[in-house]
Amino acid sequence: MSFLMFTVIGIVSLYFYLKLSIKKCECKTSMKGKVVIATGANSGIGYHTAKKLATLGARTILACRNEKRGSSAQESIIAATGNSNVIFKQMDLCDLDSIRRFSKDILETEDRLDVLVNNAGACSFGDKYTKDGLLEGMQVNHYGPFLLTILLLPLLKKSQPSRIVNVSSLIYLFGYVDLDKINNPKGNRIIMYANSKLCNLIIHQELARRLEEFDVVVNSVHPGIILTNILNEGNFLFRLFFKVLCWFNSRTAEDGSQTVIHACIAKECERVTGKFYVDCKERYVLSKINNRDIADNLWRVSEKFVRYKEENKKIIK
Ligand SMILES: NC(=O)c1ccc[n+]([C@@H]2O[C@H](COP(=O)([O-])OP(=O)(O)OC[C@H]3O[C@@H](n4cnc5c(N)ncnc54)[C@H](OP(=O)(O)O)[C@@H]3O)[C@@H](O)[C@H]2O)c1
Repeated sequence: MSFLMFTVIGIVSLYFYLKLSIKKCECKTSMKGKVVIATGANSGIGYHTAKKLATLGARTILACRNEKRGSSAQESIIAATGNSNVIFKQMDLCDLDSIRRFSKDILETEDRLDVLVNNAGACSFGDKYTKDGLLEGMQVNHYGPFLLTILLLPLLKKSQPSRIVNVSSLIYLFGYVDLDKINNPKGNRIIMYANSKLCNLIIHQELARRLEEFDVVVNSVHPGIILTNILNEGNFLFRLFFKVLCWFNSRTAEDGSQTVIHACIAKECERVTGKFYVDCKERYVLSKINNRDIADNLWRVSEKFVRYKEENKKIIK
């Protein structure tokens, strides 16, 4: 058989393998009486996750940065699900004050919080800094979700059993943590994206350990590679590369939301914490994720960057 024939058979088999590996979350757990927050729920994976949770009856809070896109997602989810208990609240992860305002509002107005989905993310890395003096991509993907999560912990603890679901990415495999240069732009944008996702994953694993004595579970998810808005940024070659990859992978944003939904509602994820899920199944993570020294140092540095107040420290060990 010629080389060409082998290549064609290889590509076709890989295509079908990827297609068949897409899993659907079949859980139909009622979410009536439960409150969930999904960040970045106006598009892509976050939108489909929020829509499913609303379908199951949850009071669903869409935490989005853009008023118009957030309200439009709210209207669309209410129309599609018939659940009028879908709320939009503005929150920009690039602004620590906005995260603080949002969290304060939630703590003052909600009686409970059963699921927090840290979904919002960006891969538009460059050397831009936010008004908080942090590297923009790192703030959206790591510092912002970190601050949001620790500020909402009192409500999550009050609502035990509760869940924190972190939409991560297998791209963490290519990342590394260099605490001395963590707030400096480091060349290649894909590596910078990988670093931010790695930091975010390490911190969520550390949080799972710190919350072991509570009934608040923390799990992370890789949703698959999907052509959403996040991959529409960057130069022509970057977009072309991901367009080909996504065509090959042939997943929709709804497919991508399945593992996120699984981590939010599946019975089997109720009592497990610090796990990583792909295609609705638990997977191993590299040991660099669970290094306690790196995690402790990253936690300390992250607390400093988000200006987390000493007096709040009693919230977590
Ligand atoms: N697509 C993939 O192949 C893939 C693979 C692995 C992991 N992921 C992860 O999946 C998550 C969802 O991404 P997606 O693929 O569904 O892309 P998406 O459709 O672009 O969704 C990203 C969401 O994050 C929001 N966001 C961005 N910056 C924000 C900020 N500063 N404050 C608040 N919200 C902000 C976006 O809001 P706007 O609409 O206002 O921009 C949007 O709602 C991300 O964490 C991403 O890293 C995606």
